[in-house]
Amino acid sequence: MGDDPRLSFVPFSRPTLDAEEEEAVLAVLRSGWLTTGEVAARFESEFAQFVGARHALALNSATAGLHLCLEALGVGPGSAVLTTPFTFAATAEVIRYLGADPVFVDIDPGTLNIDAEKLQTTLEALSAAGRRVSAIVPVHIGGLACDMEAIGHLSVRFGAPVVEDAAHAFPVRHGERHLGTLGDAGVFSFYATKTITTGEGGMVVTDRDEVAARIRLMRLHGIDRDVWNRYTDPGAGWKYDIVAPGYKYNMTDIAAAIGRVQLAKAQRFLQRRKAIAKRYLVALGGLDFLTLPRWAEEHAWHLFVIRVREQKLRRTRDECIGILQAKGIGVSVHFIPLHLMSYYKTRYGLRPEDFPVARDCFQGCISLPISAGHSDEEVDRVISAVAGLRD
Ligand SMILES: Cc1ncc(COP(=O)(O)O)c(C=O)c1O
Repeated sequence: MGDDPRLSFVPFSRPTLDAEEEEAVLAVLRSGWLTTGEVAARFESEFAQFVGARHALALNSATAGLHLCLEALGVGPGSAVLTTPFTFAATAEVIRYLGADPVFVDIDPGTLNIDAEKLQTTLEALSAAGRRVSAIVPVHIGGLACDMEAIGHLSVRFGAPVVEDAAHAFPVRHGERHLGTLGDAGVFSFYATKTITTGEGGMVVTDRDEVAARIRLMRLHGIDRDVWNRYTDPGAGWKYDIVAPGYKYNMTDIAAAIGRVQLAKAQRFLQRRKAIAKRYLVALGGLDFLTLPRWAEEHAWHLFVIRVREQKLRRTRDECIGILQAKGIGVSVHFIPLHLMSYYKTRYGLRPEDFPVARDCFQGCISLPISAGHSDEEVDRVISAVAGLRD
């Protein structure tokens, strides 16, 4: 440590990996089989068991998972898919991949999740206009559940399947179930900042056999059978057929080996994130220039989003970010709402005021460092830097 902030930089996130992950990867490297094989299959069955789903399908990203789920559920050109503007690029771009249109619904300021009442109003308006709604994609922001009861009712009423974007939401219980298993399909991300990581990676879970079968087909070129063993199994035939123009979205055994080890540590990682969230809430609770997230036990605490009351503090959010960064704190912003992005703005003629809650929440938000890899000392440095914003 020292005065140079670069020497004591607190990163936004730090993956927690040790000799176990290293040994698991080495075992794969030495096995002679690197791409999708037995290790990925084991990761899938362990993951399915963990979350209580009938099927789990390992992929190279959650983006791929969202794409494949929507494709498998029949989302196609000209239909509408309802989702939140307060999310990452991936959630909406996959809708466009399929020629469908994302229809955004504003968020609840308390949870930052899609507002279920506004979702109902939007569905009613689309239905009155005769527009086909092919799916609903709620995003559990930071790992806090959307109102899945209300969304489930709307799904039935309007005949639109639900794909949970659970990229942030592992492992989160929601009563008896896990988030990601409440809709027709759910998608988890293993990107480097997530609760468990494979570097890059994702997992789809579903109880619907035909959805799982379609995803299994489309994740590997639309080839009609699993061909991962065709080079090693002397009994495996060389023939295969292509029954659809599929994609190349499979997970390697190298990544799956990391995933299996991480999965076994998931509860420990979650507990550490919860402890950090509590530490932030206790220490920052008295600062009147901040709005803090509400404590929730059923929460992945993938993100810890504070909102700066700019007028009270007499500093802008961007100034605050500059100050925190100068003190060596690796902050981030989740999210710049999609309706403010050039592509969606231009294509759909969207204005900032169309989704005022998302626009206003974005205005002050800053994501503080949080991960199982952060020490108490680092968290305390973040706390004193945030408290110092007043000075
Ligand atoms: C809400 C949300 N959905 C989907 C994704 C895509 O995840 P991946 O990077 O695994 O494709 C992300 C990425 O972080 C995300 O934040």
